[in-house]
Amino acid sequence: MSNTTWNRHHVLSLADFITAEYDAVLQTAASFQEVLSRRTKKVPTLQGQVVANLFFEPSTRTRSSFEIAAKRLSADTLNFAAATSSMTKGETILDTAKTYLAMGTDIMVIRHREAGVPNAIAQEMDRLGVKVSVLNAGDGQHEHPSQALLDLFTICTLLDPAQPRIELLKGKKIAIVGDILHSRVARSNIWSFIASGAQLHLAAPPTLLPKLFTEYLSEEKDIQNNQLFLHWQLEPALQDADFVMTLRLQKERMTAHLLPSLREYHQLFGITRAKLQLCKPNVKVLHPGPVNRGVEISSDLMDDPEFSLIQSQVTSGVAVRMALLYLLGSGKSY
Ligand code: NCD
Repeated sequence: MSNTTWNRHHVLSLADFITAEYDAVLQTAASFQEVLSRRTKKVPTLQGQVVANLFFEPSTRTRSSFEIAAKRLSADTLNFAAATSSMTKGETILDTAKTYLAMGTDIMVIRHREAGVPNAIAQEMDRLGVKVSVLNAGDGQHEHPSQALLDLFTICTLLDPAQPRIELLKGKKIAIVGDILHSRVARSNIWSFIASGAQLHLAAPPTLLPKLFTEYLSEEKDIQNNQLFLHWQLEPALQDADFVMTLRLQKERMTAHLLPSLREYHQLFGITRAKLQLCKPNVKVLHPGPVNRGVEISSDLMDDPEFSLIQSQVTSGVAVRMALLYLLGSGKSY
């Protein structure tokens, strides 16, 4: 495992992650990727510890990925689903968290539709003086750190499978395309890609970019040291790109009609093989899932192993979540 010191007790956001922490996650995940390629894919690292998955919002891949990651580390897992829980009887979120604490939970993995819920639970655990770690598995439109870390790992292992590290992305051109306004994945990715020294280009219709960003759009301007560029057209973002990440249109979070039609959106911002001609010849495409086939990405491109990293993102997710659980869980002294 990685020798790097890891002092973080919770993983709530990537805003203050430093290079050594990114590299600790990447190197630890690489070791677990190796474990996952063995016949016996299990290690005793977190034996006796309890990992509770508290998902207050629907999820397929993130929840299952955390569950299998915890099981591969030999932790005991508790799964909670809001619809069948005592929350339907009026219990508050903090009381639900304290119930899991009383059952001996060591790590709480939390997803909630409101931004800030994982932070609030982490603060409460700290106030109580207990050694419980909180991992943000997606909070509202705020952040989704484990997704951004698995995206980073997927790209870095492609560039150097033996030694994935964040500096490999220095100078690479990455385009993030689509519903940036509603995307917690994009918010976490912005932190990690900027920290890596990549050149990040965001492309979206102005209605799907955060207000703070749109005022810069008229000049298609770089807003952070030649590293972050905004476009309301797709082509300049794709030109010579090394990686293209496309995002789901989050219809469930849209409160107004922000787009004329899905067909027009696909014509203007949907990623297709033809549009990839603008990129570097060996360009790769990512998507955090779930995908609206034929909207943000064409169905054939999504399934094309020459370009699509979508399945490897899901596979990488297990190793990266094992790394996060390991780094948080193994720091506890008993
Ligand atoms: C994302 C999420 O839930 O934030 N999906 C995921 O975790 N893999 C993105 C999305 O919902 O579009």
